[in-house]
Amino acid sequence: MIDALRQWARGHTERSRYSPVGIAFHWIMAILVMFQIGWGYYTSWLPAGGDKLRSYEVHSMIGLPILLLAFARFGWRLMIPGPVNDADRQGLQTQIAYMMHYVFYIAFFGLPLSGWAMWSSIAEPGPLYLAGLVPWPQLPFDQLPLTMRWQVMDIAEDVHHILVIALLLIIPLHVGAALKHHFWDRHDVLRGMLPEIPDAEDPRGGEPRRPRDPAIPDEKVPG
Ligand code: HEM
Ligand code: HEM
Repeated sequence: MIDALRQWARGHTERSRYSPVGIAFHWIMAILVMFQIGWGYYTSWLPAGGDKLRSYEVHSMIGLPILLLAFARFGWRLMIPGPVNDADRQGLQTQIAYMMHYVFYIAFFGLPLSGWAMWSSIAEPGPLYLAGLVPWPQLPFDQLPLTMRWQVMDIAEDVHHILVIALLLIIPLHVGAALKHHFWDRHDVLRGMLPEIPDAEDPRGGEPRRPRDPAIPDEKVPG
């Protein structure tokens, strides 16, 4: 099974492209995480009251699926290596990009976990729902002495803040680098992370494009 998946993914990664599964993980999580940052700040600026509470409920029900996606994506990434593309030949820049990817993965786990810990350590935590539908348990902090619960809250809050700030610093660098590779260097990096659109004019129909070998001249179109 794993071998079959690897072989299927190689059909994409050998052409410097992420597999459709890798692309789906990237864009779904990018949208959810960016939404969460905006919604988190919006909520934190609301005055205390019912609206703020409901807003945090929305924040938690969208944040928790990110934790499940993080496990699935990490498992996928361990099984299926990313493609080698033009961004892998840039020395120090490549190392910095890899470091940023590690920080992203730490945030994918750390933000929902610290959010869950915060939620579970407040005096009377309200119910949690995954995507607003499936009941999600609290962490068992109600057994802890009150002062220890406050400490947990404090640490979880710090972790949440630090990871949010880390994301605010690296997302613009990551996006800027992707755009620079594409528009300035004309590299294949961004194209490899975008869905492949089948060319209706292409006689191969929906078959994926292979890089053209410049040594082979184009076939002459009759007429
Ligand atoms: C990737 C997922 C998440 C992101 C990007 C995110 C982002 C944020 C942001 C930007 C804030 C406001 C600023 C700040 O306090 O740092 C915030 C606050 C908060 N988040 Fe999240 N969050 C995520 C997941 C979660 C989850 C799953 C929960 C709960 C189960 C949660 C609970 C909270 C709480 C309780 C606060 C208020 C913290 C305070 O008042 O100090 N978050 N989050
Ligand atoms: C418009 C916004 C974005 C663009 C254009 C973009 C573009 C890209 C591109 C081109 C790559 C491939 C890099 C390479 O192979 O060297 C990539 C990888 C990645 N991006 Fe983004 N990205 C965006 C937003 C985000 C956001 C918001 C996050 C995190 C919340 C994120 C997390 C990642 C991760 C973790 C990888 C590594 C992929 C893997 O190996 O699993 N990206 N991105």
